[in-house]
Amino acid sequence: MSADLQYSPDPAAYDAFAEAYTAETESNLINGYYTRPAILELAGDVAGRRILDVGCGAGPLLETLRDRGAVVTGVEPSIRMLDLARRRLGPGTALHLGGLGGDPLPFPDAAFDDVIACLVLHYVQDWAAALAELRRVLVPGGRLLVAVNHPFMYKLLNPDGDYFATEPWRDDFTFDGRTFPLTFWHRPLHTILNEFVTAGFRITVVSEPPPAPEAHELFPDLETSPSGSFLCFLFLGLEAA
Ligand SMILES: C[S@@+](CC[C@H](N)C(=O)[O-])C[C@H]1O[C@@H](n2cnc3c(N)ncnc32)[C@H](O)[C@@H]1O
Repeated sequence: MSADLQYSPDPAAYDAFAEAYTAETESNLINGYYTRPAILELAGDVAGRRILDVGCGAGPLLETLRDRGAVVTGVEPSIRMLDLARRRLGPGTALHLGGLGGDPLPFPDAAFDDVIACLVLHYVQDWAAALAELRRVLVPGGRLLVAVNHPFMYKLLNPDGDYFATEPWRDDFTFDGRTFPLTFWHRPLHTILNEFVTAGFRITVVSEPPPAPEAHELFPDLETSPSGSFLCFLFLGLEAA
C-alpha cells in the first residue's frame, strides 16, 4: 500500500451497515467464538467493576459484562450502532455518542476500573492522543483490554505494504450485496507495544489465542495451525501506571 495515499477514517463509517454488521457478527466465528471469548477471558471476574467499552458497537460485550455483574458504560461514534446497543441493553445502561480521535471522551478523570477497546484502535490514526484519553479515564492501576488487527496480517493481505511503517490501508466489506470501504491504520508490532508503554501503560498480557473450543464443532471448515490458533487479531492486557 502506497504511503502517499492518504485515507481519512470516518468514525461514523459503521452507520452505513450497522444492522447488517451486527446481524452477521452476533454469533459468527471471528467475533462470537474468537474475539469476544478472548476479551472476556482477559477480563476475568468483573463483578462490581466499572467498565467502559470504547467503540462498543451494538453492545454485545456490554451485555455479557453486565450479566456478570459489572457496572457498564458504552461510547460509540456511529449513531446507528449506538441505537442498536440501546435496543439490546435497554434504558438503564449508560451509552454515549463519542469516540477516539476527536473531542475528549465524555467522562471525568479516573471514572473506570477497566476500559475495553475491542477491534477499535486500528481505525485510529493518532494513538498518542487516543491512549492519553483512555489513560485519563482509568483509575491508576486500572486495566485496558485491547483487541486490534494483528500486524502480521497486514503483510499477508497487502504484500506491497511496508510492514515497518505506520500507514493507512483500505479493505472492502460486503453486506447484503453492497460493498463498504473501511480505512485501517497498520502499525508494526514494535510501534504498537511502544505506543502503550509511552502512554503510561504496563503490558501485562500478550495473547494470540485459539478460538473457543466449541468453534470446531460449529464451524467444521475452521482451519487452525497444528497448535490450534490462527492469525487474526492481537490481544493485549495493559495496566495504567
Ligand atoms: C469492528 S466494530 C467492533 C464493535 C465492538 N467493539 C465489538 O467488539 O462488538 C468497530 C467499532 O468501532 C467503532 N469505531 C470506529 N472508529 C472509532 C473511533 N475513532 N473511536 C471509537 N470507536 C470507533 C465503530 O463505529 C464500530 O462500532
